[in-house]
Amino acid sequence: MKIAILGGTGSIGEGFALRWAEKHEILLCSREIDKAVSSAGKYTETLLNKGFFCCGITGCKNETAIGDADVVVLSVPYQGVIALLKDLRPYFRDQIVISLVVPMKKNKWFEYTPPKQGSAALEIKEILPETTKVVSAYHNVSAKKLASLEKILDYDVVVCGDDEGAKRTVMELTREIKSLRPLDGGGLASSYMIESLTPFLINLAIRNGLSDLGVKFV
Ligand SMILES: NC(=O)c1ccc[n+]([C@@H]2O[C@H](COP(=O)([O-])OP(=O)(O)OC[C@H]3O[C@@H](n4cnc5c(N)ncnc54)[C@H](OP(=O)(O)O)[C@@H]3O)[C@@H](O)[C@H]2O)c1
Repeated sequence: MKIAILGGTGSIGEGFALRWAEKHEILLCSREIDKAVSSAGKYTETLLNKGFFCCGITGCKNETAIGDADVVVLSVPYQGVIALLKDLRPYFRDQIVISLVVPMKKNKWFEYTPPKQGSAALEIKEILPETTKVVSAYHNVSAKKLASLEKILDYDVVVCGDDEGAKRTVMELTREIKSLRPLDGGGLASSYMIESLTPFLINLAIRNGLSDLGVKFV
């Protein structure tokens, strides 16, 4: 598959590129082509130095990659993603769009700040063409652990979406990342529950002197 990672130059985008490049062609996207090319080169070098196979990580501008992709990952902060997607809307057709976006702010502690639609995923679905398939996942996965290829990610990933085929594809992509277990979280309307866990996990980590907390259902 061709996977475009919008904002792939940032914290969690790196981990997805490194983890999926073994089986998929990665379009590593940025608002700035030079930044995209430089990150793509750096990630490729990391994989090759560690002895991993790499199908190819190509640096692209956000808008150039979308039309070519089967799956588009939205790896951009909530504060920027809505305006970005309004601009990029014409480039979307029927891709699977993965939202890991968490709207939150920090006062004394981190707080979930959903839009009026109820969640980032539902707001994103409203902006994109109806033919795209928005799936919500990975909100509770640590960027640091995802990018550390030697780390075992003993987390569950709750996947929410209204298109069953798209949800299955994202669950399969999740299984390809060693030790991540995908769980079907129902329709996109359930996304707010899993988005809201992220600020809670960050607060838990701060209060208890822990790091990289995730979710595991036992
Ligand atoms: N970090 C985590 O552990 C983690 C875990 C789970 C979910 N998430 C979610 O994943 C998403 C990305 O998080 P992150 O920590 O990777 O973010 P980040 O490193 O702060 O930013 C990711 C990339 O987004 C692009 N970007 C930043 N501001 C933008 C704006 N105003 N408009 C358009 N693009 C912008 C930048 O790429 P360019 O400058 O190259 O365009 C940046 O490199 C967020 O929605 C977050 O809630 C993060």
